[in-house]
Amino acid sequence: MTVAMYPGRFDPVTNGHMDIVTRAAEIFDRVIVAVADSRSALFSTDERQQLFADAVEHAGLHNVRVISFAGLTVDVARENGVHALVRGLRAITDFSAEFDMALMNRKMAPDVESVYLMTALEHLFISGSRIRELAGLGHPIDDLVPPGVAEALAEKFKNR
Ligand code: COA
Repeated sequence: MTVAMYPGRFDPVTNGHMDIVTRAAEIFDRVIVAVADSRSALFSTDERQQLFADAVEHAGLHNVRVISFAGLTVDVARENGVHALVRGLRAITDFSAEFDMALMNRKMAPDVESVYLMTALEHLFISGSRIRELAGLGHPIDDLVPPGVAEALAEKFKNR
């Protein structure tokens, strides 16, 4: 059985992330979405985990589960018997950061492979910061995020 882990901050989960996890779920037997602890995120770790779990349930991805973690990604991967770390690549700017991260992860855990999926063309311009900016300025973002995320963003920005 092949197990993949998709780590990230997911602040919040977007249709771009859902594209990657959906495709990973077709390639691997099991996929673990691992939501990284982050002090600078707009949403708390629990909120980000819940939003991603709701999106996975809504998409009917039965071989995907969502966890949260603090510490090193490769440690969590090993604890969960993970064979591959999956990440999405949008453009050359993603590549330099991902290349560095993949090499460091390989240095720490040569037994865990990094696998990259090219983002679908329609999600190329989506990023967490752009989504947060638009939502904060009151522009509709419903077609860029899974159901429930736009409402969660509106709630976050209501009292700011
Ligand atoms: N489509 C659209 N947008 C995408 C995307 C896709 N397929 N993939 C990523 N993005 C966007 C995100 O929305 C986010 O945008 P933002 O920066 O504007 O908010 C950005 O790309 C990256 O976010 P995300 O995918 O959530 O990952 P990340 O880069 O925040 O995650 C970790 C990095 C958590 C995987 C990494 O820091 C880590 O492993 N941390 C744990 C500690 C550790 O092990 N450190 C050593 C690493 S070598």
